[in-house]
Amino acid sequence: MDESTDLQGKRLVLGLSGGIACYKSAELVRALVKAGASVQVVMTQAATQFITPVTMQALSNQPVVLDQWDARAPNNMAHINLTREADAVLVAPASADFIAKLVQGRADEILSLMCLARPIERCPLLLAPAMNREMWAHPATQRNIAQARADGATVLGPAAGDQACGEIGDGRMLEALALRDEVIAFFEPKRLAGKRVLITAGPTFEAIDPVRGITNLSSGKMGFAVARAAREAGAAVTLVAGPVHLPTPAGVRRIDVQSALQMHDAVLPLAPIHDVFVATAAVADWRPASLSDHKIKKDGAKQVPSFELTENPDILAAVARLPQRPYCVGFAAESHDLLKHAREKLIRKNVPLIVGNLGPATFGRDDNALLLVDAHGERQLATASKRALARELVREIAQRLSSPTAS
Ligand code: CTP
Repeated sequence: MDESTDLQGKRLVLGLSGGIACYKSAELVRALVKAGASVQVVMTQAATQFITPVTMQALSNQPVVLDQWDARAPNNMAHINLTREADAVLVAPASADFIAKLVQGRADEILSLMCLARPIERCPLLLAPAMNREMWAHPATQRNIAQARADGATVLGPAAGDQACGEIGDGRMLEALALRDEVIAFFEPKRLAGKRVLITAGPTFEAIDPVRGITNLSSGKMGFAVARAAREAGAAVTLVAGPVHLPTPAGVRRIDVQSALQMHDAVLPLAPIHDVFVATAAVADWRPASLSDHKIKKDGAKQVPSFELTENPDILAAVARLPQRPYCVGFAAESHDLLKHAREKLIRKNVPLIVGNLGPATFGRDDNALLLVDAHGERQLATASKRALARELVREIAQRLSSPTAS
């Protein structure tokens, strides 16, 4: 599944209230449209001080609604019409003043009027707060945010960091692409709500000396995609990652490690408090038996150095042996005889599900093909993006968790 189809068919209303973060809303509308959504923009008068309706119209490809007396609607009821067909309203930026108005049920301009008039059961409201850190931290704003949540709104962000006023702290609106991803996640069915999922991803790096080591070609993309999909499905996700340069999926707790031993030591204490363990990491099977404190030098040496290797612990098998084990999913990266090796790992590691893939064909790529192997048989997931496959795998796991025979 390509990012560009994630919001296919979704009808969104994007509301802008007044704030400097309006400049991010231009990129946001573009990202939402690119992801397949149709976007109707509604702006308060204050928002038009920060960005022009011309820009927003051009990027959304739809005339912008600016006031409640807009005579273009045949029934002259823009505030009603706008939300009747919408799948969600996203207010980004949501200023402190706008949130206060929302909480009070005020309706003296088009955006708050429209929010009040929306069918609350059918048309969810998402708020992306944007304001100065003192305004955000003020008890009045915190009270209002809590009340907006209690009234059913979903609050996205805010982020922390540099602010337009020169101060640093909480209150920045999430970046456009992060907001787009939050909207995508919002629409995903919450199949793993209340579940805790632990994932390993990427290669490990087994040091030989301070500047060299043994590693492999795993990119971590599959594991990161599973982490994102599990979080989108409502799980609390912990991702233990080997050395990769991938951004952490939103809302995922990440623990960075280097070696197989570090990965093992990070995973084992966490495993019993998780419901699911997905081992996507390409853990190095061996590490140098001893680590040289200094860089091994070539000068003067007549002989090529040789290393003794020692076996790394099998993290997946160790988790599967725990008395309080989570539902364990292993990966098998093979170069040949995928089914045979995957089935053999299912038994050897004593796990209920192994996901086979051809390592050399998938390392570093954005797509993959998977073979799900369990005690009952196997199921092929045809070549697709790692994102789409990760979602399918999460669906499978959720189904197995809800089945009484899951172990
Ligand atoms: N695994 C693990 N710890 C290890 C080795 C593997 O947790 N030390 C996990 C992997 O994350 C994967 C599964 O076990 O989920 C299978 O890994 P793979 O490298 O395919 O298999 P190995 O057990 O290493 O066997 P072989 O190298 O002989 O194929």
